[in-house]
Amino acid sequence: MRIGMLTGGGDCPGLNPAIRGCVIRSMDFGNECIGFLEGWKGLYEGNTVPMGLKEVDEIVYKGGTIIGTSRFNLAKRDDGIEKIKRNMEKYNVDAIVAMGGEDTLGVAAKIYEQGIKVVGVPKTIDNDLYATDFTFGFDTAVTRNIDACRALMDTGKSHRRIMVLEVMGRHAGWIAAYTFLASGADWCILPEFKNDYDKMYQHLKEVYKRKNYGLVIISEGIDIPEDTSTQVTDEFGHITVTKRGTDEKIAKMIEKNTGIETRSSVMGHMQRGGAPTVFDRILGLRVGVKAAELVNNGDFGKMACLRGNKIEAVELKEAVAKLKTVDKDWFELTKIFFK
Ligand code: F6P
Repeated sequence: MRIGMLTGGGDCPGLNPAIRGCVIRSMDFGNECIGFLEGWKGLYEGNTVPMGLKEVDEIVYKGGTIIGTSRFNLAKRDDGIEKIKRNMEKYNVDAIVAMGGEDTLGVAAKIYEQGIKVVGVPKTIDNDLYATDFTFGFDTAVTRNIDACRALMDTGKSHRRIMVLEVMGRHAGWIAAYTFLASGADWCILPEFKNDYDKMYQHLKEVYKRKNYGLVIISEGIDIPEDTSTQVTDEFGHITVTKRGTDEKIAKMIEKNTGIETRSSVMGHMQRGGAPTVFDRILGLRVGVKAAELVNNGDFGKMACLRGNKIEAVELKEAVAKLKTVDKDWFELTKIFFK
């Protein structure tokens, strides 16, 4: 068989190990891989690259994706299915391995219903894909964030300031919750739960008395009180939260209500690049291997997933049916550390 791989949506550390896993496992079955460049766009436009052993040498430690990505929404093109069928024929491709989050895999679920042989690999730094315990990219993003927290604590303490750090997570606050818990910060605001601002100001004043600084972690996807800025959306209809200036707005509110000088920083895309952690490398390799096995077994319409410490498979349509957001138990855990 000939397999066409593509990576769609926001890039994340672990994609290259997943590509490597799929290419190398496919070789065991006598199957061959090629790459479609920049997600669904490459399949739609017919842009390909060879993807053999040579191409996947030394990529396990590389961030990003060697085949590029985009937020191109195939489902929005009237001639989408027709064009991808034509390109699959042109390049002799029997099956597609689509690596992505809810949007990319949402398209995969749709085209599977229309007769395309497709298998999914879950990825997103947000860790919000339902039906898998973890997605690669998340561990690397949080690891990078906690290094930044350490730096912010040093400078915050030196200047006797409150520091605010905005981290990614559009609909789900997993990155913010894990960054908060693993860094020993003082407060966090998640998109899933209403923040008690008065309680937060009071708490920060007390923390400040004790240690002369404070650190607040906020998720980029939170509601900003009294925000009137215009909202920009991407091809999939998501608000581009990275451009709202959330960190500055929250920092201003804190400074105004506590009387303590406050500064803010945004981790932004630094969370998405760089070498993957060991966890993300191994997870990437494992789900990549599983995707190659699913294709070889003719098990289409499925997504590789992590359950406990086992790699399993789940129906694509089930995997994209809902998002995995931070639940009440996790929120309660964060609140224990508002001390
Ligand atoms: O892929 C998910 C994500 O990293 C979100 O956390 C973030 O809001 C978004 O992508 C940013 O997208 P872009 O890179 O297109 O600005």
